[in-house]
Amino acid sequence: MLQSVCSLPKALTGTTVKDILVCNNSPQCGVVYATFQLQRISKVPETAFRSFHGRISSVASSVLQRPRVFTMGISSATNNGVETNCPSVPTHMDSIPVFSLDEVASKLQQLTHPNRRTYTAMYSSVVGGITLDPAAMVVPIDDHIVHRGHGVFDTATVCNGYLYELDAHVDRLLRSAAQARIPLPFSRSVLRNILVQTVAASGSREGSLRYWISTGPGGFALSPSECEKSSLYAVMIGKERVKPESGVSVITSSVPIKNPKFAIMKTTNYLPNALSTMDAEDKGAFQAVWLDEEGYIAEAANMNVAFVSKGTLLIPAFDRILSGCTAKRLVVLAELLTANSKGEVLQKVEVRKISLEEAKSADEMMLLVSSYLVIPVTAWDGQPVGDGKAGPVTRFLYDLMYEDLTNGPPEVREPVPYVSK
Ligand SMILES: Cc1ncc(COP(=O)(O)O)c(C=O)c1O
Repeated sequence: MLQSVCSLPKALTGTTVKDILVCNNSPQCGVVYATFQLQRISKVPETAFRSFHGRISSVASSVLQRPRVFTMGISSATNNGVETNCPSVPTHMDSIPVFSLDEVASKLQQLTHPNRRTYTAMYSSVVGGITLDPAAMVVPIDDHIVHRGHGVFDTATVCNGYLYELDAHVDRLLRSAAQARIPLPFSRSVLRNILVQTVAASGSREGSLRYWISTGPGGFALSPSECEKSSLYAVMIGKERVKPESGVSVITSSVPIKNPKFAIMKTTNYLPNALSTMDAEDKGAFQAVWLDEEGYIAEAANMNVAFVSKGTLLIPAFDRILSGCTAKRLVVLAELLTANSKGEVLQKVEVRKISLEEAKSADEMMLLVSSYLVIPVTAWDGQPVGDGKAGPVTRFLYDLMYEDLTNGPPEVREPVPYVSK
């Protein structure tokens, strides 16, 4: 790793290298730090750098600030010949740099993980507007949503330049805010308009809009009484829709389900959901399915579940779980289908308690979520569901939902007023 002389910026000549640290805390990223003390100015010994492979990626320009010690990060690793732009992460340092606002902004601009390119717009009520620069898409650390998780959120899909089911998602957000005792920062109509304008400003015609309401910034106390004003944040993630797999496997979660009081709200406390998904991934599965405290089928970590049994679509009742917008829309469309197709595809739709035994003996199983609509489940706890293939009713219901997403009625499709460039 230690090979060539890096080119030193002119500003550094005449400084003294006090300490050099090599931090290899990520496999693709070796960051070399050199700490300089300006008091002991002599000359940077070339030998100190002779051996570094890479180029100087950042130099703290707070050189003249106190303490008169600063740190230079040198990106020293390459990943398949492409230089990685890793943040400077020390394992030990004499002093940590103190950055100005401009320097922080420039540091944030250097973060280049691939997903950042898909963050095409963010609204923040704290700044009172929209930014298109991912580096500026930040949230104050003293916002109650950050340090206490006191916030609610929702996500709506954008497809072909339309927001799908925006009203259902906004209604759920407002319900969650009321349950979490978060006053609304704006009226419903203003909030809705901000969301639509955020998508319009992004220019993204595909992807998802995620938005949060929080008790807002103002202090670090447990009570939100210090928070000055509720905040609204929204970010457009301009990613192409991923078609659902032809069949995924699930496990029964070994992570305890949330108490129903919390499961019915969409709050930012998703630790059980994240741990449950990790549990699934550890076992080679896509999602983990929760049972409620009485052993009935509840939901998956961020999806609802549904079954087809003897011509009936079965969906767990929503009183102890999140009421999924996709699942609710599917109920409406499936009921129309049963009425119009005289039971050819489905005879009945039932939203009720479903025992584990009934679910495990179902002919078909599916996961329901806005981003994918309907995902067929072909294996559960290592056993095939039905004949182990995506079921015909499940595939039909996906097509039904996809048609609604792309050609549904105006009440579920909000055209985004993009400004032509
Ligand atoms: C816990 C939980 N259940 C169900 C869902 C499905 O909801 P929707 O269909 O509105 O995406 C989600 C999605 O966010 C979720 O987080």
